Amino acid sequence: MSSKEMVDLCLQHSLFSWSATGKIDPIPVARAEGVYLYSPEGQRWLDWNSQLMSVNIGHGHPHVVEAIAAQAKSLVFAYPGMATEVRARLSKRLAELCPGDLNTFFYTLGGAEANENAIKAARQYSGRHKILARYRSYHGATHGGISLTGDPRRWPNEPGMNGVVRVMDPHPYEYSFGSNDEEVVKNNLTYLEEVIQYENPKNIAAMFIETVTGTNGILPPPKGYLKGLKALLEKYGILLVCDEVMAGWGRTGKRFAFEHGDIVPDIVTMAKGLTSSYMPLGVMGVSDKIANHFRENVFSGGLTYNAHPMCLSAAMAVIDVLESEKLIENSARMGEVMQGHMVQMKEKHRSVLTHRNIGLFGAIELRKNAKGERLVPYAGAHPVIGKLNKFFRDNGLFTVISQSLVMCNPPLCITEQQMNEGFEIIDRGLSLVDEVFEG
Ligand SMILES: Cc1ncc(COP(=O)(O)O)c(C=O)c1O
Repeated sequence: MSSKEMVDLCLQHSLFSWSATGKIDPIPVARAEGVYLYSPEGQRWLDWNSQLMSVNIGHGHPHVVEAIAAQAKSLVFAYPGMATEVRARLSKRLAELCPGDLNTFFYTLGGAEANENAIKAARQYSGRHKILARYRSYHGATHGGISLTGDPRRWPNEPGMNGVVRVMDPHPYEYSFGSNDEEVVKNNLTYLEEVIQYENPKNIAAMFIETVTGTNGILPPPKGYLKGLKALLEKYGILLVCDEVMAGWGRTGKRFAFEHGDIVPDIVTMAKGLTSSYMPLGVMGVSDKIANHFRENVFSGGLTYNAHPMCLSAAMAVIDVLESEKLIENSARMGEVMQGHMVQMKEKHRSVLTHRNIGLFGAIELRKNAKGERLVPYAGAHPVIGKLNKFFRDNGLFTVISQSLVMCNPPLCITEQQMNEGFEIIDRGLSLVDEVFEG
């Protein structure tokens, strides 16, 4: 099928997410390999966002493709009440790889469903119903997930789930809790404790955080925040749920982002990188106290495709690749290379406000003037973003530009040479934004 036929039929007969389908122009992709995507006619793009920060091992890895095919030949599906070999093996392996006493796992088809089930588990375990979540966050598009979400994707889906109390992040969009990490953490947690008092701690089941905030800014937590937060929540018997759907499985240079803060949450949710998107899979991992509760009490939650063997086989094979090819180590090492390039971008381009990265989880933030105002106001738009998107596409780079952020999240298998290639295109693209800098 040609690119044109592919695009026309997709637009005619399918709806695209988060967009008005009549107003978009999707990239036609026929195949993908390593860090590159290809159109039917052979046009090539460097995948600078690992699709949705998810294809962590890179595209088309034969080990994973073969594992999925082998699983298909032996057992495609078993209903969730059955035991299977792949479920047994993956669950044991996850228990070995997850720190602390995160030893028990519930399987879904994606990140939102993992969070949805974490809401259920936290409420059923604690007997409390309120959930704390932060404004600069995305937790998925299902009813509970979008209700926890702080960003504007929530607005058209309101009113959402009852019982969500949203609080400020340690890094709010405009306001600051202080001028250094220690002050920020102290002030943010003091404010949070006051909110907990107002809401009645005995009614609060859990707090959900993205351990490193993803689409809302690529924001690693300030030093000491995770430890302080965990201790504060523990004081009131509130569970900490770390949403590692985007940040987990090597993206930050460690297997889990919470390992940077030296904590273990009560519940972790994961998806994306765990199968590198080769198959749809989400996981809720729970600590022993919660698992033991559900050994005695019914867990009221389920899906037809819970623990789907095909999806679990992909996860097993992706973990093999992450380990045998040392991709988490490569993420940490190439993160330093990325930072070097970003420093150069800031020196060279007046439109660069700032840049951040932790491992291969990064973004360049753009400004419109010397006062440091962001190029795109919160939930707003700027005409140069369309031009920049087109420039990247025409010049062989696929990425997402989210508000003022140029996302930099390539697959963890990226080489130094491919990193140079990406930043060479970004460098030329940023000149377009420099032209509209207001001074
Ligand atoms: C942090 C986070 N949580 C949850 C989700 C939802 O995952 P899914 O789209 O697989 O349902 C996402 C997706 O981008 C995410 O980034």
